Amino acid sequence: MISKKMTKALNEQIVLEGYASFLYLSMASWFDKEGLEGSAQFMRRQSDEERAHMLRIFDYLSEVDAHAIAPAVKQPPKEFDSVQEVFEMVYAHEQKVTQSINKLLTIAKSESDYTTENFLQWYIKEQREEENLMRSILDKIKLIGNGPQSLYYIDKEVEAVNNAELDGASETEDL
Ligand code: FEO
Repeated sequence: MISKKMTKALNEQIVLEGYASFLYLSMASWFDKEGLEGSAQFMRRQSDEERAHMLRIFDYLSEVDAHAIAPAVKQPPKEFDSVQEVFEMVYAHEQKVTQSINKLLTIAKSESDYTTENFLQWYIKEQREEENLMRSILDKIKLIGNGPQSLYYIDKEVEAVNNAELDGASETEDL
């Protein structure tokens, strides 16, 4: 039986994952407006992934007979100063999500809720991969430079990362 405290904390995580989905969708739209197609596709896919992260918690709460709450929609920012700023925001948000997952795990452990602890392990791995991915993109942006002449090359790099991720995902599906 899942506790009220654990349920509340998981519902708060739903808010965070849902917000990430809308934030990344807003970033995809901004990239699209700026003519950065590769980055737009990348962020659109990240947005879809965040929605899937949110729904995974929804389904888990249902499975353990708790009440999943659909979050209120908070307007994310819609204008950004630069590509580097966008990816710095994404990286910061992912770090915040990681901290939040760690707190959930601390609650699960303190309550000897092994079922939720086991459920959260997937998120631990996912966060490690996502933080690493965003950090590697930021490293590339810093190498290429952030001036107007660099935008084309940054966009191509992000597109290449996106395609590599898509290939990785389809290989996993094939297994
Ligand atoms: Fe679901 Fe990337 O946090």
